[in-house]
Amino acid sequence: MSPARKPARSGRLIVLEGLDGAGTTTQVERLASALRAEGQSVLTTREPSDGPVGVLIRQALTGRLVLPGGAGPLAPETLALLYAADRTDHLRAKVLPALEAGQVVLSDRSVLSSLAYQGASLPMEWVESINAHAVPADLTLFVEVSIEVAARRRAARGGPEELFDAEEKQRRVSKQYEAAIRLRGKREHVVRIDGDQPVEAVTAACLARVHKLLGRKPTRAAVR
Ligand SMILES: Nc1ncnc2c1ncn2[C@@H]1O[C@H](COP(=O)(O)OP(=O)(O)O)[C@@H](O)[C@H]1O
Ligand SMILES: [Mg+2]
Repeated sequence: MSPARKPARSGRLIVLEGLDGAGTTTQVERLASALRAEGQSVLTTREPSDGPVGVLIRQALTGRLVLPGGAGPLAPETLALLYAADRTDHLRAKVLPALEAGQVVLSDRSVLSSLAYQGASLPMEWVESINAHAVPADLTLFVEVSIEVAARRRAARGGPEELFDAEEKQRRVSKQYEAAIRLRGKREHVVRIDGDQPVEAVTAACLARVHKLLGRKPTRAAVR
């Protein structure tokens, strides 16, 4: 591509997705280390983000933010709108500036998670419509694990059980991910990674895909 036609976004957005316990957080960190060792400029980030709406979402997921008067958790629609709003802030505050600076952005979850998780209790088309502003990833790595492996890893990890952790819900989310990939796969390049493998093998599989992406379209950092 000639310099005159270079898009404003010269970086690359790579999103990791999967069931809770699939290993996306582990792999974002491992991928970042590997890419940095190769001289890439990398930003790691996550959704929900660390911004103000992201904080609200985390509170809602752990039951610390509820409706007044003992009326229970936030409505699913509210939560879906919060995720979409957090995504807008996240793009503006972190993702787009990094892409414009030519960085490789590794995001732990993005719009596919909204389609899978919020789409489990709401019409997926509506969830997609409120996320119309979301920047499509250049590459989405779907870390695929069985429900059992995800549950074992969550148990090993410990920490508070979140709203979506019950096994029945995970099963539904897993189905929803398939529907979400079918829907979103038309606009995004979604690649399945066998997440049941040992950590190192999962990283290697992810890295191979990232190299392919960066090789096809080198980032500023890569050619420097
Ligand atoms: N491929 C793997 N094999 C074995 N254990 C793993 C693997 N990937 C992650 N883990 C472990 O499973 C737990 C959950 O991983 P984590 O990255 O937090 O998952 P996620 O962010 O997808 O919910 C952690 O204790 C992590 O060390
Ligand atoms: Mg995680």
